[in-house]
Amino acid sequence: MQTMGDIKVTKATTSKRASVDFKNLSFGKIFTDHMLVAKYSNGSWQSPEIVPYGPISFDPSMATIHYGQSIFEGIKAYRLKTGVEAIFRPYDNFKRFNKSASRMEMPSVPEDIFIGGMKQLLQLEAAWIPEEYDHSLYIRPFMFATDEVIGVNPSTTYTFMIILSPVGPYYAAPMKIYVEEFYVRAVPGGVGFAKTSGNYAASLHPAAVAKKRGYDQILWTDAHEHKYVQECGTMNVFFVIGDKFITPGLETGTILEGVTRDSVIAVATDMGKVVEEREISVDELVDAYKAGLLTEAFGAGTAATIAKIAELRYKDFVMDFDPAQMPLADEIKSILTAIRDGIAPDPRGWMLSIQG
Ligand SMILES: Cc1ncc(COP(=O)(O)O)c(C=O)c1O
Repeated sequence: MQTMGDIKVTKATTSKRASVDFKNLSFGKIFTDHMLVAKYSNGSWQSPEIVPYGPISFDPSMATIHYGQSIFEGIKAYRLKTGVEAIFRPYDNFKRFNKSASRMEMPSVPEDIFIGGMKQLLQLEAAWIPEEYDHSLYIRPFMFATDEVIGVNPSTTYTFMIILSPVGPYYAAPMKIYVEEFYVRAVPGGVGFAKTSGNYAASLHPAAVAKKRGYDQILWTDAHEHKYVQECGTMNVFFVIGDKFITPGLETGTILEGVTRDSVIAVATDMGKVVEEREISVDELVDAYKAGLLTEAFGAGTAATIAKIAELRYKDFVMDFDPAQMPLADEIKSILTAIRDGIAPDPRGWMLSIQG
């Protein structure tokens, strides 16, 4: 056992790293040698520890399994061309994590555990941040309820953990999507803005139905009228209409406040484009498409950064897009990639070095 910064570290006796084929990584299947664990009880967080990666065991009555108090985040660390290892916008995920925690009646995680713990874990695992182009080390912080009791109550004990997984380039094939008119993902006053496990569990069946119909994803719409667009899969959506970028607003609390969404808005604004965050109806999309004004449609999220939409279907009306003719989506993706590679200016300080 040793301490690194403030955190106790128990090192793994062997490393799996040498056996990993970094040229053929599938998403989320390989984990690094260590993980961070912090426990909450009696109203406070105990000191986190870094321990060898491995299974954890719990009582069958553990609250999370039954009542689903469980939240998570998804972040990436990169090896910049300058040799620096840095994390993309972790403070934004930190804030979102604690918003999710509050909505799920879970304790907030302090910055020294979330950000400080993440940096120390990454310092220990820095060799796992891939060098290959467009590869990264995916960071998964998560928290779950650990009370051992059957009964619908907020848990009094929780575990916060961070695990790491090296990931390769995400080949974002242009997506075929249909506008969902039966299932709903989120309602005003609900938990749509929270990154909580139940949102993903509830999306699995509608997504399976979409796959059976030959589509990659669903474009969710509002629960009352199925009229206004929300988001799709694990991405926020953007439409280019005329010279403007339009993306659903955050005010109804029914979409996740994506870090990539915010990055796209910032970069598009820097490019001199007007970005509107507002309600957008499917009818408006159809009208703009018919008028030849809707020229680009894409998803934005940590996994793919930008994923173009090739087909968007609403009832019997199909909107086709040529992914090779989406210059604005291409430009935004290349600017974001350059910032994450450390070869473009980073005026907003999005890249946080894992050192110090
Ligand atoms: C439901 C949902 N919407 C949007 C996003 C995009 O968010 P971000 O850009 O922070 O990855 C994600 C991915 O985290 C998601 O799961």
